Formats: sequence, C-alpha cells, structure tokens
Amino acid sequence: AEYHTILVEQRGAVTLVTLNRPQALNALNTQVLDELIAAFAAFEADPGQRCAVVTGSGEKAFAAGADIKEMADKPMADFYLEDFFSRWTSDFTRKIRKPWIAAVNGFALGGGCELAMMADFILAADTAKFGQPEIKLGVAPGMGGSQRLTHAIGKSKAMEMVLTGRMMGAEEAERAGLVARVVPAADLLEDALKTAAQIAAMPPLAAMVNKELVNAAFELGLDQGILHERRLFQILAGTEDKAEGMRAFVEKREGQWKGR
Ligand code: HXC
Repeated sequence: AEYHTILVEQRGAVTLVTLNRPQALNALNTQVLDELIAAFAAFEADPGQRCAVVTGSGEKAFAAGADIKEMADKPMADFYLEDFFSRWTSDFTRKIRKPWIAAVNGFALGGGCELAMMADFILAADTAKFGQPEIKLGVAPGMGGSQRLTHAIGKSKAMEMVLTGRMMGAEEAERAGLVARVVPAADLLEDALKTAAQIAAMPPLAAMVNKELVNAAFELGLDQGILHERRLFQILAGTEDKAEGMRAFVEKREGQWKGR
C-alpha cells in the first residue's frame, strides 16, 4: 500500500509506523487516521509480522492531537452524522490482537495521548509530554482519553489533567503508571524496536493471549477475569508451542515457534 502521511517499514518481524506530518506536529487528520487503520490491518493480516511500534517523526511530537484545523469549521451535525472518530475508539483496538507499542518521542496531546494509550504499553522519551487539553478548545477527549487516562492514573490525577488541560512530563507519567518506562530521547526508537523484537520472538499465540488477558482486566470482574485467564491458559496448554517451549527449557535450548 502507498501512504502519504505515515511511513511504514518492516524490520524483521516488527512493523514500524511513523506518523509523518512533522510540520503540523503529526496532528491526526482523517487521512492519517485512515492510513493508520490500513497499516494496522496489513500488520494484523501478515503472519510474518508479530509486533508493531508507532512513533512520531521529528524531535518535537508524537502527535499534538486531532487536527484542529480540520475540526474548526465542521458543524456539529457532521460530527454526529459521520460518528466522528468512531472507528478509532473501541473498534480499532479490539481488531488488533497482536501486540503494539507506542514510542512517545515528544508531545502526546489530545488525540495523540489517546492514540498512545490505545497501545498495549507506552515507552516514553524523557522529553515526552502528555496531556488532554481539549477543554481549552471547548470540547473534551473524544477517542477514549477520559476512560483510558482514568484507568491508567486514577480519578484524582485524571480529573486534574482534563479539567486544567495541563501537560505531564515523562517522569511524572512513569510515576503515575501511564508509561511502562522512560528512556533518553536519543535511545527511544532503538529501545522500542529492541523491545518489540523481544516480543516478536515470543510464541505468537501466547503473545496474543497474554495481551487479551491483561485487556480483560478492564472489562471483566475479578471472578470472571480469573476464569477467563484459566481457560485461555488451558487452551495454550494444547498448543505445539507449549510442548516445544517446555521441552526446550528442559533441554536448555531456545524454543523454535510454529505459532500453533
Ligand atoms: C493542527 C496543529 C496541532 C493540532 C500543532 N499544530 N498542533 N495543527 N492540529 N492539534 C500545528 C500548529 O498550528 C503549527 O502550524 C505547527 O503545528 C507547529 O505548532 P506550534 O504551535 O507553532 O508549536 P509550539 O509553539 O512549539 O507549540 C506546541 C504545542 C501547540 C504546545 C503542542 O502546538 C499546541 O498546543 N497544539 C495543540 C494541542 C491540542 O490542543 N491538542 C488537542 C487537539 S483536540 P503552523 O502552520 O502555524 O506552523 C483533540 C481532540 C481529540 O485532539 C478527540 C476529538 C473528538
């Protein structure tokens, strides 16, 4: 496929997607979002690709939000009739069953913060800044931010963030549990690709199941969640990769995965 607002490269079994509108701080307009959906559909469909990384081009931004210039003159009826951003909330994340990482290299604001939070986890440059400043534009998060930020950092902090629109630096984001790890900006991409390669080398069914189980913690009660975990554990126990993984451990060698 040909893309105009993102760059898509395959590095072994890792797909690297770079948001590429640096002149607009990688603001997410409809074209970027459509291309991201297409790139992720291709990633999901390609059995050779096992993990993805999304990052932003340039040094300043991951993505500074949905494209304000595109939204500025759009009438309310159009937002409603197009069900604006509907493909970007639960639809999109549910369809992507393979793991992916957001490598946040600068501003992740509004829709940019929301996109990062859709990832399975966030790796942040020490220069990263997160925020949901929509209130200052007279709106509110529209791609899951009010829910995912609250799940990630708790009510009080999420409420303060959305009501003031302030930005949160990388260190604070790590303390609050929004990001998995902070790394020096210069090392971010290499670290993210290395982490993704590590995940890509795991037994692929197990990777998908582990992702599904952690996500289930946000949807299910504890009893149901633990039951779901036990059942999927039992299903994995029937795979060829489980037999190989345990045999390889006993024989003190690396496993060779079939993805079955
Ligand atoms: C469109 C944007 C943009 C955005 C930046 N730009 N953010 N264009 N949409 N979200 C453009 C600027 O207009 C400018 O273009 C260029 O990128 C560089 O930005 P500057 O503002 O000049 O850079 P700087 O002074 O360094 O400030 C950086 C910044 C600021 C603090 C990140 O750009 C900013 O506050 N951006 C908006 C952040 C925001 O409100 N995001 C939430 C959007 S609403 P020109 O052409 O002038 O050079 C949202 C809603 C999601 O995401 C859900 C809705 C349903």
